[in-house]
Amino acid sequence: MSNNSQPDWHKMAEKFDLWLPHIAPVGNAMLDVLESKSGDKILDIASGTGEPALTLARNISSVNIVGVDAAEGMVNVAQAKVEKEGLTNISFNVMPVEQLNYADNSFDHIICRFGVMLFQDPLAGLKEMYRVLKPGGSFVIAVWGARDKMPTMAWGYEAFKGKVSADDMPPLAIATSLGEPGVIDDILKQASFTDFQVERKYFNYDFKSFDEYWSLIESSDILKRQFDALAESEHASVRNEISEFADEFSTESGMKVPHEYLLVYGRK
Ligand SMILES: C[S@@+](CC[C@H](N)C(=O)[O-])C[C@H]1O[C@@H](n2cnc3c(N)ncnc32)[C@H](O)[C@@H]1O
Repeated sequence: MSNNSQPDWHKMAEKFDLWLPHIAPVGNAMLDVLESKSGDKILDIASGTGEPALTLARNISSVNIVGVDAAEGMVNVAQAKVEKEGLTNISFNVMPVEQLNYADNSFDHIICRFGVMLFQDPLAGLKEMYRVLKPGGSFVIAVWGARDKMPTMAWGYEAFKGKVSADDMPPLAIATSLGEPGVIDDILKQASFTDFQVERKYFNYDFKSFDEYWSLIESSDILKRQFDALAESEHASVRNEISEFADEFSTESGMKVPHEYLLVYGRK
C-alpha cells in the first residue's frame, strides 16, 4: 500500500482537534515518563495541532519546546493556539523529520505521538531524532500497536475492501507498520538507539453510542477519501457494516473500544 493513502494532513488540520480528547490518554502516558526539568529544550516531532507539546508547555513554564510537522496546515493550527494563549515557551515550525534543521546534540528530550509510522522514511526520521538529541537525552514516542489490536481501523478496512481501489483504502498497513513485536525495536537499533524499553499499552475510544462515534468520523473527514471513492448508493451499507462490527463493543455505559499502542522510551 502506498503512502498516498494517508490522510492529507494539511487539509485535515482544522478537523484534527476533534480527535485530541480521544487520544489524550496516550499523551498523558508519554508525559508521565518524560523526566523534564527547568531549562530543558524539548522537540515534539510530527506535532500536528500541538499535542502533547502544548499540554507540557502549559504545565511547565520553565521548559523550552519546539514542535515540527511536515504539514503547514497542522503547524498553523498549533501556532495559532500559542498566540491565542500568549505562551512564550513554545513555538511550531514546518519541517519534515527527515531533514531537521537543528544542530547535532541540540535537545534534552524528544517526543513524538503517532508520528513515526507515518513518516515518509521512518528510519531516516529516527536517525535525525538520534542526531539532534543530546548524549544522555531522553525520547518518548508512541506508535499504534499490532494490526489485530486496532478494531476501529480494521472496521474501515474490512468495510471498504473490494469496493475502492488499493490506493484509496484506509491506511491500516501504514498505521500499524511498527506495531508487531520486535519491529520498533529493530528500527530504533538501526537508527543507533540502544537504551530503550517498549511497553504494550491500551486505551479505550469511549463514545456514548455508535452514532456519536460516527458523527466524529464524518465531521473529522477521517474516511472522506474512502467515501468519496465509493458510489453514493453504497454509503449506507458501508456505515451499516461498520455499525455491525461496533456492536461487539457496546456496553451499558456506551461504546468502548480498546486500542493498542506502544509506549517507547529511552536515552541516547
Ligand atoms: C496522527 S497525526 C499526530 C499529530 C500529533 N503528534 C498528535 O498526536 O496529536 C500525524 C502527524 O504526522 C505528521 N507527519 C507525517 N509525516 C511526517 C514527516 N515525514 N515529518 C514530519 N511530520 C510528519 C503529519 O503531518 C501529522 O500532523
